[in-house]
Amino acid sequence: MVLWDNIQLSRRFYLIVLTLFFCGGCCFSSKPSPLLSAGKYTEQSALGMIKASRGVLAPVYAPLAEQIAADFDLDKKTGIGIDLGSGPGTLIIELCKRTQLHWVNADINPHFFPYFYKSAEEHGFGHRVSAMFADACALAFRDNYAEIIVSRGSFHFWKDKVRAFSEIYRVLKPGAVAYIGRGFSENLPVETAKKIRAKQGKKMNYDVEKTANELRQIMIDLGIKKCYIHRPKPAGSERVNYGVWVEFHKPEGNG
Ligand SMILES: C[S@@+](CC[C@H](N)C(=O)[O-])C[C@H]1O[C@@H](n2cnc3c(N)ncnc32)[C@H](O)[C@@H]1O
Repeated sequence: MVLWDNIQLSRRFYLIVLTLFFCGGCCFSSKPSPLLSAGKYTEQSALGMIKASRGVLAPVYAPLAEQIAADFDLDKKTGIGIDLGSGPGTLIIELCKRTQLHWVNADINPHFFPYFYKSAEEHGFGHRVSAMFADACALAFRDNYAEIIVSRGSFHFWKDKVRAFSEIYRVLKPGAVAYIGRGFSENLPVETAKKIRAKQGKKMNYDVEKTANELRQIMIDLGIKKCYIHRPKPAGSERVNYGVWVEFHKPEGNG
C-alpha cells in the first residue's frame, strides 16, 4: 500500500515537472524576440522603405555601387559580400551587376526578404544572393567570412554601435574592407542629390560633423588603425548633405 502510494506520488511529481517543462518551453518558444516585438521591424515599415527605394531614393544605388566596385576592385573578387541592413536590397542588385560576389542581405527585418528575392530573380541574380535575419550587434556569421561588408542608411539604428562595428570587423576576412555610412556617393550628380533632399524634408538634418566624430571614436575604441572617414563633397554641393561614411580594413594575416 505504502509502495503504491509512493509510486502514485512520484508519478504525479513527474507529471507536474513534465507539464511545467513543456508549458515553460512553449511559452519561451512562442514568445516573440524582444527585437521583433519592439514594433519597429514590421511589414508596414518594410513596405515604407521599399516605396522609398523605388521612389525618392532610386537614383542613389547605382552610383554608390559603381563607386564601391571601383574603389575596392570588386570586379576581380569572388566569395561573399554582405550588405548589412540592406532592406529592399536595391544596392545589392546594383552590386550584382558590377561584381561576381555572392551577396547576402543581412537585415533585422525579415519582411523585406520576399521582395528582395523576387527583385533578384527579376534581375537575373536569384542564384547570386541570399537573405539572413541579422542584428548588427550580434552577427550570426563566422569569423573571417566576408570579402566586403557594406551598409547604407542603417548604422544610426544600431543599438550598440561599438559592438556592431566590432562584429563587422570580426566577420571581415583578413585583408577585407568595410564601407559603412549614410547618404550618397561622391559621383551622385548634385542636382539629383538636391532633389532627393528636398523631397526628404527636414528628417535628414542630422549633424554630419558629430556623426563623423562618433564613427572616428568607434574606430579608436576598437583599435582599428586603417580607417578613413569620407564626407563626399562634389563641386557645387556645399549646401547639400551628402552624408558620411567610414571605410575600414582588417589587416592581412589578422585571422
Ligand atoms: C533606412 S533603411 C536602409 C535600407 C537600405 N540599406 C537602403 O539604403 O535602401 C534601414 C535598414 O536597416 C535595418 N536595420 C535597422 N536596425 C538593424 C540592425 N540592428 N541590424 C540589421 N539591420 C538593421 C532596417 O531593417 C532597414 O532595412
